[in-house]
Parts: sequence; C-alpha cells; structure tokens
Amino acid sequence: MGPGPITVDPRVLRAMSAQLTGQYDPWMTACMTETQALYREVFRTRNEATVLVDGTSRAGIEAALVSLITPGDRVLVPVFGRFGHLLREIAERCGAEVHVREVPWGRVFTPEELERAVREVRPQLVALVQGDTSTTMNQPLEGLGEVCHRHGALLYVDCTASLGGNPFAMDDWGVDAATAGLQKCLGGPSGSSPLSLSARAVEVVDSRRSVEAGLRADPDAEDGAAADGRRVRSNYFDLGMVLDYWSEARLNHHTEATTMLYGARECARLLLEEGLEAAVARHRLHGDAVLAGVRGLGLRVFGDVAHKMHNVVAVEVPDGVDGEAVRSALLHDYGIEIGTSFGPLAGRVWRIGTMGYNARRDAVLVTLAALEAVLRTAGAPLVPGGGTGAALEVYAQGVPA
Ligand SMILES: Cc1ncc(COP(=O)(O)O)c(C=O)c1O
Repeated sequence: MGPGPITVDPRVLRAMSAQLTGQYDPWMTACMTETQALYREVFRTRNEATVLVDGTSRAGIEAALVSLITPGDRVLVPVFGRFGHLLREIAERCGAEVHVREVPWGRVFTPEELERAVREVRPQLVALVQGDTSTTMNQPLEGLGEVCHRHGALLYVDCTASLGGNPFAMDDWGVDAATAGLQKCLGGPSGSSPLSLSARAVEVVDSRRSVEAGLRADPDAEDGAAADGRRVRSNYFDLGMVLDYWSEARLNHHTEATTMLYGARECARLLLEEGLEAAVARHRLHGDAVLAGVRGLGLRVFGDVAHKMHNVVAVEVPDGVDGEAVRSALLHDYGIEIGTSFGPLAGRVWRIGTMGYNARRDAVLVTLAALEAVLRTAGAPLVPGGGTGAALEVYAQGVPA
C-alpha cells in the first residue's frame, strides 16, 4: 500500500509467464502493434508514435528528453517535488539551458504562474510532472499545451504516477510527449515505459534522425544528423531509432523485452476493459476512503488536498511517533508496506497508496485497521475505530466496490 511499486494484478503476472517468440515472429509484431493501439487509448491520443521504451519509467523520461532536447535548448522545468528535480537533472545532462520555477512541496502551480514562466523563459520545451508521488500533488494541465504552442514550445509530461488513476487527455490537453510506467495505477511491475509523441514532437525527432552504420547499405556513407552535431546523444534512447523499430519497417534496434511487452499489454487491456473513467472513479473512491480514514483516526494530511492525486495520501507522522518504527511494524506484523518520502518530507510523512490492484475496499480497510493497531502500540493519541468507520462511510456513499 505504498506509492508504487504495488502488488501486481494476477492477470498481468499470468500474461508475463507466456513463452517468448522471435522478435520478428508474426505473433510478436502483432502483439507490438496491438500494444501501440492499446496505449493510444490509455493516453487518449491518436499519436501514431506510441510505443514502449524498455526500462523503468526513468528510461521513458530519458528517452523523451534526450531525443527532444538539442544541446543549448532552453528548457523550462516547473518543480513541485522530487520528480520535477529529476526532470531538471536529466534536462541538464542533455545539455539544455534549464530554467527552473519552484513552488513549495505540497502545492501545485496556478495556470497564471505557468504561463508567466513560459512567457519569461521562451523555452523550446516545457517539462513537468503531472502527479509527483513525492508530495502526492497532481498538477492541473488543461490549457498548458495551448500556452506552450502559442509561445513556440513543446510540452513534455511525466504521468508515471497518475496515469490510469487520474484523468489524462494527451490530445485534448495538447501534450507533445508523455511517458509513464506500469507500477502505479496500471497494476504491473516496473520495467516498461509507455511513451507517446505528437506529430510536432516527431518532427523534432525526425530532424535528428540517424541510422546506425551497421544497418546502412554503405556503412561508410556520412550520416546527416551525426555530421551536423544534432544526433541524439544516446543510442538506446534515440526515439528516432526506437520508432523505426516499432514501425512497419521493423528496423533493428534493441531486442524488445518480450516479457515486459506481455505485461504492458495486459495492463492496458485490464484498464481499458474496466474503462478509463471507471478506473479513475475507482481510484478516487478508494483514495477518498483512505483520506477520510486517516483523518477519522485523528491524523493530519499533508499538502493542498484539493490537488492531491486520487491514488496516494501523505499522512503527517504525529509528534513523538517514530515513523520508521510504525512502517516496520506494519510490514512485519501485518504484511503491509506503506511509503515514507524524500528530501524535505523524509521522515515527516507516510505515503499510503491505493493504486492499480491495490485500489480495493478490503485492502483499504485492512490497512486502516492495521495502522490503528500499530499507532495504538506506539502510544499515539487516536480515535478508536475512527479509521475504518470513516472509510466505511465513504463506501456507503461511493459507487465502485
Ligand atoms: C512521477 C514519477 N516519475 C518517475 C518515477 C521514476 O520511475 P522508475 O523508478 O520506474 O524509473 C517515479 C517513481 O516513483 C514517479 O513517481
């Protein structure tokens, strides 16, 4: 019940135990094509360039940024938690001139703050996180794509923690590049990063295309992007090459991680069978139940709760309570893992997730009951039965079971 990774849906585990095939076997290529179509629906996009990057969510981030940022580009990174700092660092490593705007952890940016920053910096790329798991905040994105495009910038969004559990509408919001992971609301393991690029983003990638010498008819012929210094500074994460591999041409690049492909495909199938809106409603309901439950116990919740992701709650560790001892007792006595946080919030909050397979009523109620028992032993003042009682009231009003 932490902020991810979470308990993997048994259907995903089963899918991942299927036999492998050769990478150009018709079954394999059909599976890749089907997975692309599924993730177009998950991201709510018509982008042809929708693929998986092999690696954890960070691999998707690196692929998007290293492929979209040409050294010297101005990149605006609005930071409201740990993963904003990660985008900043990766953009710096890509050779960008990075401009950071920050709000305190526990807040999000207003649309006016973001627009002002775009006008001031005039970036080629705006890179930000939708749901920053470190603070639990969910940055509203409606309208931001239009602002970026009006000022000549592309918009990249890391929706690893929010996708599937909170609304995300790539095309409607004008997002040019989005990356995610499976280990949060999608109910899978880490190790595959779904990614989608708009036609605008593909234009940038196309302008930097290069083909590996060993794949060219004449390996000694000059490669355009390499010759003019615009070649992407990573081979593995060069999205031009990754897109070629996923295209009809199937131009060889890496060997697709077949087991992760099976897992990613099953995650998307599960989500789409449930329905995107139903899945968001389920995450909202169980997130609300945890929120009401911890408050019902008498605990305080961190941050601007109106902008919290549905799938994770940050609970302030009460004075005099050893937060790590509580986490450890929950794990050892009840088999339940909850998260701590990072940086300024390390040791100050616990993060309780209700994501993917764990966004379930029984998981929520057992977690609240166990938390109450552990806190009582730790001598924390609390309202007996207040956690499960408040959660049950939410369920009495809610819809999904
Ligand atoms: C918002 C966000 N971005 C990126 C990451 C990094 O993901 P990974 O550990 O899969 O590389 C995480 C992980 O928690 C995350 O929550």
